[in-house]
Amino acid sequence: MASQELIRQLEETIENIPDFPIPGIQFKDISPIFLNPKLYEEVIRDLVAFSKGKVDAVCGIESRGYLFGIAIAVALDVPFILIRKKGKLPPPVVSEEYDLEYGSAAIETRKGQIKPGQKILIHDDLLATGGTTEAAAKLVQKQGAIPVQFSFLIGLKDLNGKDKLEKFNAEIYHTLE
Ligand code: PRP
Ligand code: MG
Repeated sequence: MASQELIRQLEETIENIPDFPIPGIQFKDISPIFLNPKLYEEVIRDLVAFSKGKVDAVCGIESRGYLFGIAIAVALDVPFILIRKKGKLPPPVVSEEYDLEYGSAAIETRKGQIKPGQKILIHDDLLATGGTTEAAAKLVQKQGAIPVQFSFLIGLKDLNGKDKLEKFNAEIYHTLE
């Protein structure tokens, strides 16, 4: 559980930008966190505490999921696996398609990097509709591994992203609402 002080500092630091990238969306700009190494360290400490001793590997989702995901994996002393947007990784890859508001997208890992039976933390910076994380969890499952935890810096309550993740019976944590 994040301390009140960490939550206060993050709320002060993360910028809410209205109508970006399209009208009606409020963008959360996390980039000011990286101007403050002490605050970044505290964020990592908080996310690491959630996963300590519980996972065999961390999967981070391109691109903002890498900003914290790699540091979490290093602190846990477990492998980090990149989940990338389609077409970025060389073959062989394993893919999972998912629906967007308009059209569809796909995410991929390099084949063989996720090992069957591994307990996996899937990390991303933000949970919104849950579509991206749900696809990531399916991508993990189709390689015989188990998504046992999901972590995010921010979980947006209003979009009900958690509903899409219920079926995985995994632990869910976000530092901020
Ligand atoms: C954002 C965010 C999450 C995802 C959440 O990524 O970083 O990955 O959207 O949305 P969802 O819960 O509705 O699926 P984006 O696709 O904007 O790309 P980026 O991380 O590369 O900036
Ligand atoms: Mg993202």
